[in-house]
Amino acid sequence: MHQTPRGESEWTGIRSGSFDGSKDIYNLFADMRRDAPVWQAPWGDVYVSRYDLVAACLSNRRLSHAPPTAADIAPNSALRNWLIYQEGGTHTAIKAALQKPFAAKGLSALRPYVEEAIDLHIGSAAHDGETEIVAAFARAIPERVIGRLLGVPVDDLPLLAGWSASIRELLDIGFDDAFDSRLNAVDEMSAYFTDHARKLLEGSELPVLLTGLPALVENVGLVVAGSNLALLAFAGHETTVHLLGNMFFHLANAPEQLAKLRADPALAAQVLAETLRLESPVQKICRWPTGTMELGGHVLEKGQLVVLLCGAANRDPLRFTEADRFILDRAPAQNLAFGRGLHVCIGRALAEIEAVSVLTAALRRWSTIEPVKGGARWLDNSSFRGLDRLILRLAS
Ligand code: HEM
Repeated sequence: MHQTPRGESEWTGIRSGSFDGSKDIYNLFADMRRDAPVWQAPWGDVYVSRYDLVAACLSNRRLSHAPPTAADIAPNSALRNWLIYQEGGTHTAIKAALQKPFAAKGLSALRPYVEEAIDLHIGSAAHDGETEIVAAFARAIPERVIGRLLGVPVDDLPLLAGWSASIRELLDIGFDDAFDSRLNAVDEMSAYFTDHARKLLEGSELPVLLTGLPALVENVGLVVAGSNLALLAFAGHETTVHLLGNMFFHLANAPEQLAKLRADPALAAQVLAETLRLESPVQKICRWPTGTMELGGHVLEKGQLVVLLCGAANRDPLRFTEADRFILDRAPAQNLAFGRGLHVCIGRALAEIEAVSVLTAALRRWSTIEPVKGGARWLDNSSFRGLDRLILRLAS
């Protein structure tokens, strides 16, 4: 499939489980886009890095979302029930039920939950001086918002952080292991949410994000519904946590762009779009060919894992000028951070409301937002791009 491109030996760095967050992944992406935009790794998986190819793959129906069943994996994890890995009628039924509350009218019902969490973690909390913002608010706010929107009791909210950290790692170790329930936090989380769904259906009022729960249970049963509530809880905050951290990292490190934003707060939406493009929280999307097919002049085999590198596509200079720079007033061009096609993200509007509201509150609260030398540590995770730690100097 490929000649040996220059520097290829270093490309093993993108392999799940061996990623080093302190290394510059974007130089490696640039080499891949130039030398082998469809690259078969020595371990058999295929990586796609150019924007046009990734965009085309996202809506190619010959690339399945459902992983092939590996004969040596037993028993399968609840991960296999997740909407992301469904095809056809099951996908349509689950998606319709889950996205019901996100319809335009429902969005206003989400805002008070976002405002409450911001008030708690930014408004009322004392964070002046050098502050580690991931723990202070970038993780705490999305975690509380999704928990409350799903009706999770406040005392149980700390459970989400533990599950999230485990599942984030699990999704980055390779699919055979991830789908094996023997080492799987998804199963524990799904059992909790199956029980939660049962209790909710016995009660009189459904939480804001679960108005579609009765239809979901009727269509796919309680257990699959519970797995998908776990998906909502995980996908509904782990991604937004990194969006917030990445957004403050880039703003703090680009004082001229921060000044522009202060002069024109309406640029908040562009800050969000530019962060999603430049530092995409979801770096990898997986697909499996339904039969032998051609991609960018290469032959893909049925069932071979195809990894779409969103983070590489979103910095493709053929699509975005000065692609490695954080520029607020760039010409609009759609990035792929929320995916595309039938499986496009259902939570986009919530993530946008959260990010713009947090940014607005932060600008109001702090007149100084500055980086601290050595204060940023990126996650050692090739699937999620985000900060494990971000210390900033904040002053009112
Ligand atoms: C910055 C925030 C977010 C990012 C970058 C993001 C990214 C993505 C991407 C790339 C996909 C497509 C996966 C694929 O094609 O296989 C996706 C799907 C999904 N996202 Fe998000 N997401 C975010 C926030 C959210 C939130 C807040 C929720 C829920 C409240 C959510 C729920 C989902 C679900 C359920 C799917 C599966 C859709 C399907 O398979 O049809 N996401 N997301």
